Amino acid sequence: MKGLKIVATGRALPAKVVTNDDMSKLVETSDEWITTRTGIRTRHFCAGETQADLAEQAARRALERGKVDVGDLCACIVATVTPDCSAPTSACLLQQRLDLPEDIPCFDMNVGCTGFIYALQVARGFLLQSGRPYALVIGAEALSHITDFTDRGTCVLFGDGAGAAVVTLADSPYACTLGARGDTEAIFIEGPGPERPYIHMDGQKVFRFAVEAVPHCIRVLLEETGLTLADIDWFVPHQANKRIIDHVAKKLKVPNEKFYQNMMRYGNTSAASIPIALDEMAEQGLLKRGQKVLCVGFGAGLTWGGALLEW
Ligand code: UT7
Repeated sequence: MKGLKIVATGRALPAKVVTNDDMSKLVETSDEWITTRTGIRTRHFCAGETQADLAEQAARRALERGKVDVGDLCACIVATVTPDCSAPTSACLLQQRLDLPEDIPCFDMNVGCTGFIYALQVARGFLLQSGRPYALVIGAEALSHITDFTDRGTCVLFGDGAGAAVVTLADSPYACTLGARGDTEAIFIEGPGPERPYIHMDGQKVFRFAVEAVPHCIRVLLEETGLTLADIDWFVPHQANKRIIDHVAKKLKVPNEKFYQNMMRYGNTSAASIPIALDEMAEQGLLKRGQKVLCVGFGAGLTWGGALLEW
């Protein structure tokens, strides 16, 4: 079976950094509560930048780093729950801004925080059919646009940002698992409609779901590939809450250091969190060619998904 490889990554964060102390001026909260309950210390919020701006910047960096000509792309997929508008989609805006070929599919996918993983697998489908060698996969969010800044239960959690990956087929181990279970209570985002849409969340319900979904995805991927936990060099989970990740690492008896964490800097950036993490890791030299990387996402839908690939 043809595997999928990430050729290059990029990320973009808005310039404005918002601390927990800043949040405590908006709602009754504290740095102590946010840090101990979530691990989050700062997040970036758009102040002038749009979601498409972030997607574009991340995509440009990935294409530059990979030295990939846009004429060699067979698809452009943007995973997002916060496009700037319903139409044109963010992917179509990128087609225009990056001068992508007109004879390739460009579209958005709304799969909540699992969007990047779903998009990887869909991109693989296009790569298998196409004569062109690369696909562009982006997770980009402006969650501050749909955050209720009077709701302390949600507003301290989210951040804005984008991560992008240029992917190609490769003769290397690869597996992907995807799932969904309709649930309007755990996470509900209003709209589109005349009212401003807000995120509503039953935090405890999502927490319980997450600590089941992440080990489930890991188990399925290991079974499918015949690999063991010890064979995995890096786990790159969706960055919703430090406690979720620590809980999973402990449950699986995997050293905590193997689970990359950056929610302290960015908060929960939904579909962008995994590609942002991959880009940081690549930049820091943590990811080395040949290493086995297991990415796992979970979130609104409810949805979940994991992808195991060789770096
Ligand atoms: O990306 C999508 C996936 N999303 C997630 O994975 C989120 C998963 N859930 C979580 O991360 C956690 O459930 C939260 C961080 C959202 C909440 O943590 P928790 O430990 O489950 O807190 P809780 O909701 O049970 O609330 C405990 C207390 C409540 O007060 P009382 O009723 O005990 O008096 C809340 O009102 O903490 C209160 N609280 C806050 N206090 C200070 C809720 N939010 C805040 C806040 N600051 N920001």
